[in-house]
Order: sequence, then C-alpha cells, then structure tokens
Amino acid sequence: KVYTEEELYRPNFHFAPKKGWMNDPNGMFYYNGYYHLFFQHYPDSNVWGPMHWGHAISNDLITWTEKPIAIYPDEKGYIFSGSAVVDLKNTSGFGSLQNPPIVAMFTYHDPVKEKAGKTDTQSQGIAYSLDEGLTWTKYENNPVIKNINIPDFRDPKMIWDNIHKQWLMVLAAGDKTIFYASKNLKDWELLSDFGKGIGAHGGVWECPDFFPMLVDGSDEYKWVLLLSINPGGPNGGSATQYFVGDFDGKTFKLDESFSQDLKQHKSLWIDYGRDNYAGVTWSNISETDGRKLFTGWMSNWQYANKVPTEKWRGSMTLPRELKLIKAGNHFRVSSQPVRELQNYVSKTIKKEVLKINEKKTVLIDKSLVDLSRLDIQFTMKNLKKDVYTFSLSNDSNNAIHFGINKKEKYFFIDRKKSGDLSFSDVFAKQISKAPFTEDFDKMDVRVLIDKTSIEVFYNNGQTVMTEIFFPEKPMETFSVTKENFNFTIENLTINQLNF
Ligand code: FRU
Repeated sequence: KVYTEEELYRPNFHFAPKKGWMNDPNGMFYYNGYYHLFFQHYPDSNVWGPMHWGHAISNDLITWTEKPIAIYPDEKGYIFSGSAVVDLKNTSGFGSLQNPPIVAMFTYHDPVKEKAGKTDTQSQGIAYSLDEGLTWTKYENNPVIKNINIPDFRDPKMIWDNIHKQWLMVLAAGDKTIFYASKNLKDWELLSDFGKGIGAHGGVWECPDFFPMLVDGSDEYKWVLLLSINPGGPNGGSATQYFVGDFDGKTFKLDESFSQDLKQHKSLWIDYGRDNYAGVTWSNISETDGRKLFTGWMSNWQYANKVPTEKWRGSMTLPRELKLIKAGNHFRVSSQPVRELQNYVSKTIKKEVLKINEKKTVLIDKSLVDLSRLDIQFTMKNLKKDVYTFSLSNDSNNAIHFGINKKEKYFFIDRKKSGDLSFSDVFAKQISKAPFTEDFDKMDVRVLIDKTSIEVFYNNGQTVMTEIFFPEKPMETFSVTKENFNFTIENLTINQLNF
C-alpha cells in the first residue's frame, strides 16, 4: 500500500496546522469554556518565514479547531512569540467590565533593520481582542517596550501576579531574563534580571515563563521559571530548562536546595527528549481548576525546517499538567498528560502481572490495536543492573526504541532505525539520554504513541522524553527486550484512543 502524507504522518491527537509552517505555542489562555492556542505560523510555506500568530481552540485540550490567522506581520515587523492574558478588570481600558479585553504581547522583529545589520531589531508590542481572540487590534502606540540595546530581546510572557497584585512579565534577553511589572498592560517598569551564569547557557535564552506553584500536597508555594535555550539542550539543539525559587514581587532568587541541585546536575530540564521546545503555560485557568497547563513545540531547530512533511510542518506536544513536587529535599517540576485524554479511550487491554523471562516479549501488536494512537501505562519491578528496551516496530525494519539503561544510569530514546532519516545528518546520529537523578529498582512508565511521536513519562513525569520519528509505514508491534535479568511488569494498561 502506498500511504498519503496525511495517512502516514498527520498526527491523530497532536495539534498540527492544516497547512504551512508552525513553531512555538503562543498566547495561550482559557476563557468562556475554551482553551486558546496561538502559534508561530508561516501560512505560505512549509519553512520558517514572516511570522504570524495562527490560532486554534478546544474545549478539552485534545481536539482542536483551527481558526483564521489571528495576528499578521506589519510594517513594524514579524510577529514573534509572546503571550496573552484576560484583562478581567479592564485595567488596559481596551474593553469594558462586561466584555473584558484579551491582551496579547508579542515581539516585533524588524527584518528591514536586520538586513541593515542593526542590532535593535526586537521590541515588544501589544494587541487586544474583544471577540475572544478571533480578531485583534494592534495598539496605536506600539512598541510598548523599546529595544534596550540587546539583540535577542524577545518572547514576553505575562501573568496576573495575584500575590503582589500586579501584571508581571518576563522576557528573554540574550543570556538572561528580565522581569517587568505593569498596572495597565501598556506601561511597563523594569524590575530586575536573572540568569547570568546560572543554569545552561549553550545558546540564547528564549521563551521564558514565570509563575507561582503550590508545592504538591502542601500549602507552601515557590516560583518556577521555565527557560528555553537554543542550542545547548541536553541532547543537542533546543530544549527547556527550569528553575525553582522565590520572588518578592521584584527579584527572583533560587531556592537554596535548587542551587545545590544545579551544582550537581548543571541544569534540570522539563523534557530530556529532543522534541519539546519553547513550551509555556495557559493563562487565566480558573481558580477552581487550578492546574498549570503546558504545551511545547514538538520539534527541534536542528532539523525542524526539513522534517519530511510537505503540506504542514510542526506539531505540539500533548498538553501537560505541570506539578511542583518535593521529593526529599529536591524540587522537581513534573509533567503528565492532561486528564482529558482519558475521555478518548475506546478500548482497554489489561495485564496485572507479566513476568518477563524471555529476551524479547511482544506486549501488543496490530491484530489487537492501532499502534498509532495509544496511551500505555505500567510499572517495572525488580530492576537490576541491566538494559530494558521497549520497541515500537514494523515489518519494514523501522523501529523506535526507548527504555532504561540501569548499568549506566540513564533513560533513553533511540531513533536510529525509526524510518526516514534522509532529511538530516543529526536527527538520529546518537541516542538521546536522560541521566537518573537517583537510583531505583521500580519505575512507573507512561507512554503516548501517535503516528510520528512518542512521549515517555517516567516516575509520574519527573523525567520526560519526547521525540518525533517518520516511519515508512505504520508501526505494528510493541515489545520489550532485556539483556540478562528477569523482571516484572505490573498493571500494564494499554489504552486504545479514538478521536
Ligand atoms: C523560539 C523562537 C523565539 C522567537 C520565535 C520566532 O523557537 O526563536 O525566540 O520568538 O521562535 O519564530
């Protein structure tokens, strides 16, 4: 059978635009029953170009409806990444209390200045919407934040800081972030900066996000800073690190235990796979819900412009719920698929205890499920110093492997034989690794499998690996191999998803 591109590669349950290029998620907010997702978009081509904000909406974060393009580039420049908030009290005056304005802030990137070799190409502009994000009016006095002699000066992320009663914004500025505050979303006061010499600095800092989080199971809260960096990710190219600390309304200071963690691990990453970048969180999630919801762009600048789809390029991770966990003396930001996914389970296959005695054991194959829309959960027990490899494969010799190397203490994904690799030299050059932060003999695993992506969540999402792949035909078998020692898989739940 010859597969069309749509059949083979169009994701079953990950957002991808109908056509054209997509990178970062932007301006996400929740309002009136809908989650809004905007995204860096070039509708006229499948490679990066003059940036627009595309738009999609969903009432459950899983099924998305693409809307008309929300914000177009203009004479001031391309519309780079940014954020949006619901201005419930109409502090900006753009709307009314009856119809609160949605206010977006984005980076203007001026290609004319760039061509002329100028370095003040980036500044921040705002726009507002009075029809729930459908159409936008740019503010007449843009930019609201002029360039301050820093060439990489972008990706403003705003929140309502309910602790200090201010609009708060964080911006990436070269090798640091800058915090600003405002009363009306138009006039911004510079507060402080953070980051020089702290964490990973293998590339420029981009797409920050900054918010308070309750420590899971307590009423203590800490502030979390997400920070994307390109290049310099743990497995090459782009990736997102995080920091945990305290914020007094002006200055961010790392938590003491987190500073110790950084000494040991250098940096901690939201995702150690190569395809989760520029992720940020939804704003205006209602008090009763209270979740921190996140999505990232499921690609990597190393090869994003070349992946083998023609009609569209790029997709998002499944939206995830972030939690701030305190394990012993360590803070960790965990990610898990949003609970709404369970509404799409059409069939469940369960096995309570599986003793893995053979070198290779087939766990499920295409006679029972479609292997391009699965949510698989299980616990591995009695783990020894061995290598445990799970494989998704087909009879065209395509396979993507992932698992745990307990000899050398890392989790891994290996896509060296995953299908089409011709588009890039670096896509599958080496296996991706996530170092253990502590040892274990038991591990909870959750795996989401779509046509071209795998998202693996270990230890309730404290270590995550997300990667994409492009098989020549759909995957057919899910199996596990071990090298020496027998082990047990408990509570294996294979959920077939239907959309
Ligand atoms: C991150 C990024 C942002 C920028 C946008 C441009 O992937 O480089 O820093 O705003 O993409 O499309």
